[in-house]
Amino acid sequence: IDIKALRGATDGVTTIDPGFKNTGSCTSAITFLNGEEGILRYRGYAIEDLAEKASFLEVAYLLIFGELPTSDQLDKFHNDIKAQSHVDEDVKKILDGFPKSAHPMGVLSSLTSALIAFNPSSVNVDSEEDMYKAIVNIMGKFPVLVAWALRKRTGQPLDYGDDNLGYVENILKMMFKKPNSEYKHNQVVVDALDKLLILHADHEQNCSTSTVRIVGSSHAGLFASLSAGINALWGPLHGGANQAVLEMLEAIKEDGGDTKKYMAKAKDKEDPFRLMGFGHRVYKNFDPRARIIKKAADEVLSDLGVEDPILEIAKGLEKEALNDPYFVDRKLYPNVDFYSGIIYRAMGIPVEMFTVMFALGRLPGWIAQWKEMRENKEPIGRPRQVYVGETHREFKEVSKR
Ligand code: ACO
Repeated sequence: IDIKALRGATDGVTTIDPGFKNTGSCTSAITFLNGEEGILRYRGYAIEDLAEKASFLEVAYLLIFGELPTSDQLDKFHNDIKAQSHVDEDVKKILDGFPKSAHPMGVLSSLTSALIAFNPSSVNVDSEEDMYKAIVNIMGKFPVLVAWALRKRTGQPLDYGDDNLGYVENILKMMFKKPNSEYKHNQVVVDALDKLLILHADHEQNCSTSTVRIVGSSHAGLFASLSAGINALWGPLHGGANQAVLEMLEAIKEDGGDTKKYMAKAKDKEDPFRLMGFGHRVYKNFDPRARIIKKAADEVLSDLGVEDPILEIAKGLEKEALNDPYFVDRKLYPNVDFYSGIIYRAMGIPVEMFTVMFALGRLPGWIAQWKEMRENKEPIGRPRQVYVGETHREFKEVSKR
């Protein structure tokens, strides 16, 4: 495709495509997705292989820089991140201003935005070096904000990272270490979180990623673009679905576990209820991430010795949906969020934090997409519209209306 030639063209026909269902906003070499066949690859590598064999930090490097790192490259990346993982003490004052009841996604997006004031050099990224600095800066600070959002919610004192720990272990330590006691990580939990973060790391031009790219296209800085992306992710039709799924499964359990009743509600066009965690804009076959997560949920729960009746309700709903013409005809399959909440819950993560965990996983994808957009020197995103309002009207003074 001759993108340069297309860029100059502003005299074409304006097409209407609600929800951009058939519009490509950019060319991208990051994530390949085939929704008909249920294929997902990052930079050409199958999601199944990455989830099984790679670490989250390796995948982050792959997404952002295009190649799997050598061990030296990975060490340097990790060390550069660690060197930037200190959040200014004054940011805590902003955190203190939030009520404990504040949703952690609101806290996370606000604090990410606030980081701009504390790191103004992250805004101008005219050289490769500036861009790298902004990237390791946010890769270092974001997990701290995530942990703070959790601790604010649970009323725990803040904890600092430990440079001797791996990236994911350190996140868990900052989230869960109790005051005056030693933190011992559980390898099952570390591996499960690593896998979940990999599965969420990128998904081409979804709502939050498109938001990051479009905000970044005005040359707003990386942190501002990410903050906008976090807010886009928050909605229940997007990343907020993982919280909504668990709340739905809880409600079904409380209501006696009658899955058929909720299947009927989901199919009733007069009822706004939707089966959360089902359906996807692009996947019209099984979401490959859901397949991996379902298996992981079984393993993690059994490794941790957790018996969660909600997993049975989830499996029951899935079985019914796969045999129901309403869901089959509309190609509605479980998506990535259908089982992830069950694992997060088994790890002891509160339900309001689920979408924050999604944001933590999506961070490298957002960064990679923003970087690609800037490197490709994409023009400012500015869709057109088809105007359907009043044509010209005469103005009347307020006294004559
Ligand atoms: N439950 C019941 N019916 C559904 C569901 C559902 N979860 N999802 C879609 N449908 C129906 C719609 O009512 C519509 O039916 P109709 O053709 O009779 O009008 C048809 O399936 C197509 O649905 P659309 O909303 O047009 O599909 P769209 O691609 O716009 O939406 C979306 C995709 C938002 C994911 C939708 O399936 C949904 O709301 N799912 C539940 C929320 C969810 O799980 N979101 C997470 C998505 S994954 C992620 O962001 C990480």
